[in-house]
Amino acid sequence: MTAKILDGKKLSKEIKEKIANDIKALQKSKGIIPGLAVIIAGDDEASHVYVSMKEKACESVGMYSKSFKLPGTITQEELLKIIDELNDDEKIHGILVQLPLPPGIDERMVNERILPSKDIDGFHAINHGRLFLGEDSLIPCTPKGIIELIKYTGVPISGKHAVVIGRSNIVGKPTAMLLLRENATVTICHSKTKDLTSHVRSADILVSAAGIPNLVRGNMVKEGAIVIDAGTRVVEDKLVGDVNFNEVEKIASWLTPVPGGVGPMTIAMLLQNTLKAAMMK
Ligand code: GUN
Repeated sequence: MTAKILDGKKLSKEIKEKIANDIKALQKSKGIIPGLAVIIAGDDEASHVYVSMKEKACESVGMYSKSFKLPGTITQEELLKIIDELNDDEKIHGILVQLPLPPGIDERMVNERILPSKDIDGFHAINHGRLFLGEDSLIPCTPKGIIELIKYTGVPISGKHAVVIGRSNIVGKPTAMLLLRENATVTICHSKTKDLTSHVRSADILVSAAGIPNLVRGNMVKEGAIVIDAGTRVVEDKLVGDVNFNEVEKIASWLTPVPGGVGPMTIAMLLQNTLKAAMMK
């Protein structure tokens, strides 16, 4: 079997076209232009690349965006003050604080300061809680994009065995929750899992978000599985995923490339969440 490529770039382009039309309609009907504030602190190179991609994406769909590029020496108090101002800013519907934050700043405290209604990353405990309860909420962008990619295959999720590698609050845990919501039987694997291969081998749907290049090899994957590579590591200036593409391509039915798979979908979902936040006003 040769896997079909799950082209996140193409799908995200279609989604962005729809968002651009919805923004025009919202502006016409209610005079609202969705606005996103992006905050980055410190000089982590990969984070700066992601942030500039997010800014460009906003512009491409006609969204208003405002960026705060702060030094790594910023204090928590100063950062919280900026968030308070953005919470009160009528033109801003979504606030994104790029992670990781510099040492000494409490990520949880920062995420909790953003109004849940402007938390387009879905990292506030209230939004995490709503997701857990299966209620409507702002859902973290990468997990939301992963589900869109799986749905794009047309293969039903209900009743399938889904294995998620990684238990981060940003990707692993919310992805598992969303798969459960779609009625998959879900296994979460992590660094302390014994015999990862035995779990992975039984996955009809495999999502790997470990950040360990070459973790998923061809001989671990079930014939015909859908494989989503959400690993993001920069190795020698190149973005690499968790999956050995050349090996797994011969076994899986569908496979996301890195780059061009999950990454563009994360950005499309960020725009979708910002539009949703603006429409909820
Ligand atoms: N760092 C890595 N992924 C993300 C993300 O989805 N949102 C934010 N804010 N920071 C990140």
